[in-house]
Amino acid sequence: MRARLDHLVTSALQQGSAVPAFTCYDFTTALAVVAAAEESGRGVILLVAPKTAATPNGLRLIGALRGLADAAAVPVAVQLDHASDLQVMADAVAAGADSVLADGSSLPYEDNIALVQAARELLGPDVVLEAELGGLAGDEDRAFSADQAGVAVAGLTDSAQVEEFVSRTGAELLAVAVGNVHGKYKGEPQLRWDVLQDIAVRTHIPLVLHGASGIPAEELVKAASMNVGKVNFNTELRTGVLATLEEQLPAHRSDGENLQGLLGHWNQSAGSFATTTLATLTR
Ligand code: 13P
Repeated sequence: MRARLDHLVTSALQQGSAVPAFTCYDFTTALAVVAAAEESGRGVILLVAPKTAATPNGLRLIGALRGLADAAAVPVAVQLDHASDLQVMADAVAAGADSVLADGSSLPYEDNIALVQAARELLGPDVVLEAELGGLAGDEDRAFSADQAGVAVAGLTDSAQVEEFVSRTGAELLAVAVGNVHGKYKGEPQLRWDVLQDIAVRTHIPLVLHGASGIPAEELVKAASMNVGKVNFNTELRTGVLATLEEQLPAHRSDGENLQGLLGHWNQSAGSFATTTLATLTR
């Protein structure tokens, strides 16, 4: 069943859990993620990258994800991730997304607020809005070798801005920069739990941790206790799927160009990552 993203996250937090959100560039991955959520009896969030939503095929994918969410046996929300273009937001919502990350984190503070306000004006009160305060380094869609080009942390969220930012934007969720990056970390991830704690006491809305790939499970389990109710994964899911495809491709080519069999391995890889992650974040 489809669920409002903020309701899904808030009810997980009430049980001491966080909800994982997985970037889906394709339907095979989404099917695996939703099946894993159904097996574990937990809700889940399907993320659509803005580059995906900016294409006609991407909008059709959003429509398909919406159908998948509606038919799921557990609560599922479909969110447009990291959008800064109002037209892409409007198109994604028209196609079936029920939540948007209106991301002005790379803009000056006032422009960031203005973007979220413009998104609210355009999309109306029923679309759940996440906003981001404090920029995250790294590329959302591509990750490079951690040894050669791992991503160093950019700025941290300024906790002194949190209260005003939340009240002026009216966002229902707040993405924070606390030592997290998109893609592969340069060295070991060092999450700033002190900064997160400081943010958590200044707002009641759920916090969102982006760039969760590479953060050890023993760190992620602490998230919900600091009001982090949504944790975003992309790179680790891709890495697993691509490694599986690389390994399985030769045998499936020799086996009569067996694409169907190969898709089964894709499904298994994405599904087992989702299952493990759901278990990590659930109390
Ligand atoms: P990673 O690719 O680092 O997991 O980040 C995903 C993300 O934050 C999507 O919004």
